[in-house]
Amino acid sequence: MKKEQFVCPYTVYDGLEELDPQDAELMRRAHEAARNAYAPYSKFNVGAAVRLANGEVVTGNNIENAAYPSGLCAERVAMFAAMAKYPGVAFEALAVTAYSSTKVIDEPVAPCGACRQVMVEVEQTSKRPLRVLCQGTTGPIMVFDGIESLMPFIFLDKFL
Ligand code: THU
Repeated sequence: MKKEQFVCPYTVYDGLEELDPQDAELMRRAHEAARNAYAPYSKFNVGAAVRLANGEVVTGNNIENAAYPSGLCAERVAMFAAMAKYPGVAFEALAVTAYSSTKVIDEPVAPCGACRQVMVEVEQTSKRPLRVLCQGTTGPIMVFDGIESLMPFIFLDKFL
């Protein structure tokens, strides 16, 4: 028997001005996208933006529904929209942020497990690491240089 551990490396930036200009722009697009959120139930407005290898940026926002599970997270809206509009084009980076009308979000918003599961497959098909940037409405930005460090022991197609 031996104990093992999982290491989750990430970088923390104090603000957009510290980021590489392309990444700062991607995060700005995520902030803009949060304005389109349809979140009357949670009042938690999420915005996401993905940058593709062809230079295109595709945004998404969360969309809720009175039948709660029918809604979808901003990250998956953005990723699926990008895959629908630019099929086969590799993903480079994804930025996510959130606004709430009930509280101040000043720490990075981490993507949910279902979105991470999708990110893993996006990363695999892109054949390059997917850079993930997370921010609250304000505050620091956490940057992961690949989704693997965000999602250990992922379910993969090799199990099928
Ligand atoms: N949500 C996202 O859009 N992304 C996440 O990573 C976590 C949660 C949305 C889903 C729902 O509309 C609201 O935030 C509250 O859970």
